Amino acid sequence: MTAKRRALVAANWKMNGSLSANADWAAAFVPKAADLRCDVVVCAPFVYLCTLGRSLAPAELGAQDVSERTAGAFTGDVSGEMLADVGCRWVIVGHSERRQLHGESDAVVAAKAARALQAGLRPIVCVGETLEQREAGRTDAVVSAQLAAVLDAIGPEGLSRGALAYEPVWAIGTGRNATPAQAQDVHGALRAQVARQDPSAAAGLRILYGGSVKPANAVELFSQQDIDGGLIGGASLSPADFLAICAAARI
Ligand code: 13P
Repeated sequence: MTAKRRALVAANWKMNGSLSANADWAAAFVPKAADLRCDVVVCAPFVYLCTLGRSLAPAELGAQDVSERTAGAFTGDVSGEMLADVGCRWVIVGHSERRQLHGESDAVVAAKAARALQAGLRPIVCVGETLEQREAGRTDAVVSAQLAAVLDAIGPEGLSRGALAYEPVWAIGTGRNATPAQAQDVHGALRAQVARQDPSAAAGLRILYGGSVKPANAVELFSQQDIDGGLIGGASLSPADFLAICAAARI
């Protein structure tokens, strides 16, 4: 077995939080975070990024979306340069909620990943199949097409500067996580797809699992060979649960 990559655990707060709740979260998280043996990112709603700044260190700051454009008449959008300006190091692109609720295509997601890199941000690129697609035996085809679009835009080396996240849509917010074996199967296939273009970038690429990760299932998920950490939604709202999940990612 080859050595695993340093683990990365990212919180995706989604549309949750407030000034006071975020301050409470930081106060509970930061004193206990010094001993963590993984990289940690917190992806907060846009409006709180400035205030959060470096207050979550050692966790780095991330955003949940970025515009595929640089500047101009794009009402409501936020550019990668703006995110970097307020201290973000990371940004999620292609989350299934953006794909489903905002109609983001593979091409848009790929363009966002490219813009993120150009702005000096590390993209966390999400892929994942719906329940219907899984039951139709199309999981590999779906995630492989989603990944291919991003690889065309930023290449394996660009992707490995960020991270890839496998988030089966049926596991998000449902309490029904993929089994470690199901997740490992997909993670292994994704890494193999990257390796066909660039074995060394594939070996260094961190592939996160997301979808109902909790303290109770994190150790088993993170112990899989191709699972290098997690992208955590609901459980990240509790600093205690998030710390427990981070502690499960020890490599
Ligand atoms: P849950 O952990 O709430 O299932 O959400 C996962 C997710 O979508 C993280 O991006």
